[in-house]
Amino acid sequence: MTVAIAPGKIILLGEHGVVYGKPALSIAISLKASVSIEKSDQFLVNAHLINERRDTYIKKAIDMFWDGEPLSVTTFSHIPSASGLGSSAAITTATIAALLALKGIRSREEIAKKAFEVEYAVQGMASPNDTSTCTNGKGIIVWSEKKDGYIWKITKNNNTWFIYPFDVPDIKIIVGFTGIKSKTGMMVKKVKKFVEHSSFARELLDEMASLVMQGLDAIKKNDMVELGRIMNSDHKILRTLGASSEKIEKMIGEALKNGAYGAKLTGAGGGGSVIAIGDDESEERIYRAMKKVGKDAYIVTPDIEGVKVWD
Ligand code: PMV
Repeated sequence: MTVAIAPGKIILLGEHGVVYGKPALSIAISLKASVSIEKSDQFLVNAHLINERRDTYIKKAIDMFWDGEPLSVTTFSHIPSASGLGSSAAITTATIAALLALKGIRSREEIAKKAFEVEYAVQGMASPNDTSTCTNGKGIIVWSEKKDGYIWKITKNNNTWFIYPFDVPDIKIIVGFTGIKSKTGMMVKKVKKFVEHSSFARELLDEMASLVMQGLDAIKKNDMVELGRIMNSDHKILRTLGASSEKIEKMIGEALKNGAYGAKLTGAGGGGSVIAIGDDESEERIYRAMKKVGKDAYIVTPDIEGVKVWD
């Protein structure tokens, strides 16, 4: 049996900007998903015949990257689905890692590239942000600008993204799930309309890019108060671009009222999740407030390992 475990992710700064080649900063988190694969006499997922609607990402991964004998796949996940926390990316990345391990391939670059191909084939529109973060763990900057220190680059339809890793201090991030399915494609389209027709929106994206770089600096200095301020500014831009919602605003309001240094939506917005950072004393309060207003809440820490495979 081959087992692969991959972390979920949060986008700390820069979502939506990354669609236009700006940098986004993500962190792999301690909520994880696992995939176990063994040989079988038919293709099964969680003891049922594989089903395109229910097992979309696993089926696509097998169709695209497996031509061997039938497999039985078992999944387990602590990441709520459609929450903007990378549940599909983690399952896809773990599936690809296990399939490649069965072929004797263990290259992370190969895993990240193939997992992105699967996400792209399913979603029609995606940046390699989620799959690269789930593969590598730690912090990841995805950016279309080429600088020193990238670990791999991914090209699709004339877009090239360079993937830069960075170390994250042992911070706690409070995640609140709104309970409303995140609608990545729809939100990307909504923001795109604004960006295409308004120079003001494009200026906001430049401002967002500069916040991402300031945020990276604050992380390197372990300055959480400054990082919180930057998260608040980033959220203000995301709200102006139309990515927020009443529920998101309510949860952010609760987090700030309970002492968060900063709080913002994470991922595409509309629904999905919000994130907040605070000090040791306020974390529990923020967590409880978010849990009360939203569907669920989690206190997560950065994952430093990325995808891992055992066979
Ligand atoms: O909703 P998520 O977690 O898949 O994040 C979407 C982030 C966007 O920047 C809005 C789109 C993308 O593909 O990067």
